[in-house]
Amino acid sequence: MSILDQQKFWDNKILNWEEARYSRGRGEIHDRITTAYSLVTGMSSPLRILELGCGSGRLAHMLQTLPNIEYVGVDFSSVAIKKAQGRSLPKDFRFICQSIEDVDYKGFDLVISLGLLDWLTGEQVSKIGMDCKCPHFIHSYSSKDWNPVKFLHSCFVTITYGYKSSGYVPKYRSEAEVARLLNLKKYTVYKKNLLSLSRIISNCESNEL
Ligand SMILES: C[S@@+](CC[C@H](N)C(=O)[O-])C[C@H]1O[C@@H](n2cnc3c(N)ncnc32)[C@H](O)[C@@H]1O
Repeated sequence: MSILDQQKFWDNKILNWEEARYSRGRGEIHDRITTAYSLVTGMSSPLRILELGCGSGRLAHMLQTLPNIEYVGVDFSSVAIKKAQGRSLPKDFRFICQSIEDVDYKGFDLVISLGLLDWLTGEQVSKIGMDCKCPHFIHSYSSKDWNPVKFLHSCFVTITYGYKSSGYVPKYRSEAEVARLLNLKKYTVYKKNLLSLSRIISNCESNEL
């Protein structure tokens, strides 16, 4: 699928997807954003945060309550960025509509991505690993380990849109694969419950987790 078709895919999907996944206030997607938030709260400020694949800025909305944060959110969906830019956030919070291939990583203390790596090729993930020199990271990925939720999830995405999107569906990866692609040495993997597909890999620490 070309990058333009991927952008169109997300322009059509992102706001409904977010509404469906966040409105219940529980579940995997809710868990991963709250885990990421807890990890950020454990860090000392001032903090310059770069979020890749930020969607409509839901994490930014949570982070605005923390002191001394500068935040840049990047996403290639203009629909997502338009909604994010419409949020009323502090002036040090900015959003940029661009592909992760074009991101300037300089000057950030922390890079975050939630739900992005699943949609990238191995080459794209390792480019992030090569280009990004931020000392701290929080990334989510979907685990390759077999579990019934993963089986149902992969059937669901294949049946509902995989055939229409030329196989553009989320990828599952092992911890070792994510660490190798991103060139991560020291990290912890967080998993909320036994049947979670979603993992957070990070070198930040939180007393709450
Ligand atoms: C599953 S959504 C996650 C959104 C948000 N991070 C969250 O967890 O609610 C993935 C996001 O990554 C963005 N995305 C996917 N591929 C991208 C790329 N190559 N460059 C920039 N953004 C991308 C999509 O537009 C979408 O907003």
